[in-house]
Amino acid sequence: MNSSLAREIARRRTFAIISHPDAGKTTLTEKLLLYGGAIHLAGSVKSRRASRHAASDWMEMEKERGISITSSVMHFDYQGFRINLLDTPGHQDFSEDTYRALTAADSAVMLLDNRRGVEARTRQLFTVCRRRRLPIHGFVNKCDRVGEDPLKLIDDVQADLGIPCFPASWPIRRTGRLVGLVDRSDATLHLYTRGDDHGATQLAETTLALSDPQVEELLEPEVLDPLREDLHLLDEAGERFDLEAVAQGEAIPLHFGSALTNVGVDLFLRHFLAEAPPPAPRESTKGVVDPVREPFSGFVFKIQANMDPKHRDRVAFLRICSGLFEPGISATVSRTGRALRLARPQEFLADERRHGDTAVAGDVVGLHDRGELRVGDTLAVGDVEYPGVPRFSPEHFARVKMEDAMRRKHLDRGLRHLAEEGTILLLFSDSLSGPVPIVGAVGRLQFEVLVDRLEREYGVEVSLETLPFRAGRWVTGPERLIREAGRGYGQQITRDVDDHTMILFESEWALERTIAREKGLTFHDVQPTGKERQAASLQDAQAGTSGTT
Ligand code: G4P
Repeated sequence: MNSSLAREIARRRTFAIISHPDAGKTTLTEKLLLYGGAIHLAGSVKSRRASRHAASDWMEMEKERGISITSSVMHFDYQGFRINLLDTPGHQDFSEDTYRALTAADSAVMLLDNRRGVEARTRQLFTVCRRRRLPIHGFVNKCDRVGEDPLKLIDDVQADLGIPCFPASWPIRRTGRLVGLVDRSDATLHLYTRGDDHGATQLAETTLALSDPQVEELLEPEVLDPLREDLHLLDEAGERFDLEAVAQGEAIPLHFGSALTNVGVDLFLRHFLAEAPPPAPRESTKGVVDPVREPFSGFVFKIQANMDPKHRDRVAFLRICSGLFEPGISATVSRTGRALRLARPQEFLADERRHGDTAVAGDVVGLHDRGELRVGDTLAVGDVEYPGVPRFSPEHFARVKMEDAMRRKHLDRGLRHLAEEGTILLLFSDSLSGPVPIVGAVGRLQFEVLVDRLEREYGVEVSLETLPFRAGRWVTGPERLIREAGRGYGQQITRDVDDHTMILFESEWALERTIAREKGLTFHDVQPTGKERQAASLQDAQAGTSGTT
């Protein structure tokens, strides 16, 4: 085994932040960069919000510090760790992009608002992490203002998510104001001196053992007594810290703090990096792939087109799962069996002096794509395939109507590109659409993105006519049964671009009734892979089994 490769991989921490909008993800991201030394001055969130969608301020930061920030991943070094922070889209609509980012992550940071606790989107994303057994570390944000009582908040989070939560730190308040934290792992007290720059720079911190007599001089009895009571209560009745359970995604350590004022950011980052896992072995068609022992492999979790409006370019973001990536390496695309020579990655590690052009398991590289790659593709030296990136069944369906029939070719190209990026799903059905496919999306916002991008990037003006379907399911099993199942009232058989069959339903009720009735078919709310489809068809044909996956 190559020991320097093993060392490099062991110091990778690749994670995403999951949260409900407004919990403070942008603010925390910036503070992690501040404490990680990637930036020296955090701009005020206010001024940044105004130009939130402009990548320019990130780009400025990139230039300033030689870190590489793309819209998909930010990487920087901190205390010997290489941090790859995956971006998850901030918009409200339930988005597949976030799912995809989570498939590329080895762990997640769950950010909560101290007044709101678990919110709708937190819950959804938590469920995805849980399915993948991703280790989750919690940060209860906005503790600079008084929120829900921490004990009650922990109870609520545990009850809501059904997972034990361990308070890893504990807030110290003086007349309502957050002045510090207790680190429960080593019973130390961290007191912060309030800065006068609104959190733009790191806070000064005094650290001492809880048992140190000086504590009584620094904290008056009105602060210290209730603090000791709380800590006693937690020791007696609270969850015990169990790193193994955290690593299995079966328990969450919760930290308290304030991204705005920086209280607790450093403490959190240190604990998180020490406890979160490096890249782990991954399941593949060839069994479990060890990140260190196996040659280069990875999968595409995101494709972004037209990042530079001047060039029609596409960048495929590849999460490396094993081995070493070097520019010029030749890898096979598992879906097509074709060999691709992977050139120098785009916007890759601006700090080239230190890191060169190579990347290792855990890293994300952006590759120029000339249309050979799709979301979910495995790229590997050797014959290995990762299960791919889940493609969820759409909940909204629409017919595309174009204003100018002369632009048909442009429309087809735009729809194909946007489908390959995963913005929408294209479905074909002669009876519904004729030659123009219908489009499906998980969130309605994806339709807005579609209309906007078709116009801006492909010069095609379209309008969408909503279709009455509420749900779609991919279906595997004997053709005859599929045809019969799709014939019901308010139902429609379609095929997606990969030639998978999907039945659309006008109501949840119709969907459930069909699933209950059609014992010989399997219904999937996540697109089955080619191999799954073959296996399911074979199995279903032989055994006549049924169910939902
Ligand atoms: P998001 O990316 O998760 O959507 O959240 P973002 O960081 O943009 O923060 C949302 C709001 O919460 C912002 O306030 C931000 O200043 C505030 N916030 C973030 N972290 C903290 C914290 O630790 N304490 C407090 N008190 N507030 C915090 P806003 O009023 O929506 O915007 P602005 O007017 O302050 O710019």
